[in-house]
Amino acid sequence: MQIQRKHSLKTPALNLWPARLDIIQGATGLLLVVFMWGHMLLVSSILLGKDAMYFVARLFEGQYFFGRPYPLLVSFIAAAVFILFAVHALIAIRRMPGSYREYRAFWQHSRSLRHPDTTLWLLQVITGLLLMFFATVHLYGMFTHPADIGPYASSDRVVSGVMWPMYLLLLFAVELHAGIGIYRLAIKWGWPRGKNPRATRRILIRLKWVISVFFIVLGLLTLAAYIKIGIEHSDQVGERYVPAALQAQEAKPAKDK
Ligand code: HEM
Repeated sequence: MQIQRKHSLKTPALNLWPARLDIIQGATGLLLVVFMWGHMLLVSSILLGKDAMYFVARLFEGQYFFGRPYPLLVSFIAAAVFILFAVHALIAIRRMPGSYREYRAFWQHSRSLRHPDTTLWLLQVITGLLLMFFATVHLYGMFTHPADIGPYASSDRVVSGVMWPMYLLLLFAVELHAGIGIYRLAIKWGWPRGKNPRATRRILIRLKWVISVFFIVLGLLTLAAYIKIGIEHSDQVGERYVPAALQAQEAKPAKDK
């Protein structure tokens, strides 16, 4: 009797942590996606020419605000992005299958369900695992060598530093992961709230692919540009790019002499 009363009166305390972790994972994911889209647009400045990329690199070092470059600012941004990335990944790990058995069970379920979102989730787990390795290597490089960003320095790293295979894999992994992530966020939080949820989902899936393909194509063109410059510059590795305006200034006094 006593035991019965004890059980019936006690309501289990509501654990808010799963919901909190979910919100933190979504928020950090959203910030990382926005960063990645901005990052790809900035890195692709090389497609506009070496001077454009040089301008962007010096801008992030604060050259146009402080009169001289402070590469430490880039290290600071890389550290901030890494913290976001680590928080996002550590929270996401709790949802990943933990053993070969769990992966096999998930694979069998996804094959029997044949629901596109289940397959997308698996793709997100795989790309997420790849990112943990590749993004960490890239961020570490940016953090420790912040001054080595520029038309020649970056291209030398891509070609002579043999970073291009990793960038190629990183590009596909990050753009697929970001596209699926933003789609899942939209579905989870019910935005946009269309009258016909099935039609909205179809539009969101299409939009997701359009965005991923756009950034993958932009990334491939960008990588090709760095590779081209890196090959042309491979016998002068270490030399830094001098922008056209400075080259003209340097040439002028020589001509006057
Ligand atoms: C503050 C942090 C970051 C900085 C300063 C930065 C900067 C750069 C720069 C300058 C390049 C051109 C190649 C080079 O110089 O090595 C590059 C390439 C690339 N970065 Fe980042 N990056 C950062 C973070 C990230 C993160 C977090 C990711 C993905 C998770 C990422 C993905 C890529 C990819 C895929 C490429 C190759 C782009 C292409 O297709 O050409 N970057 N990054």
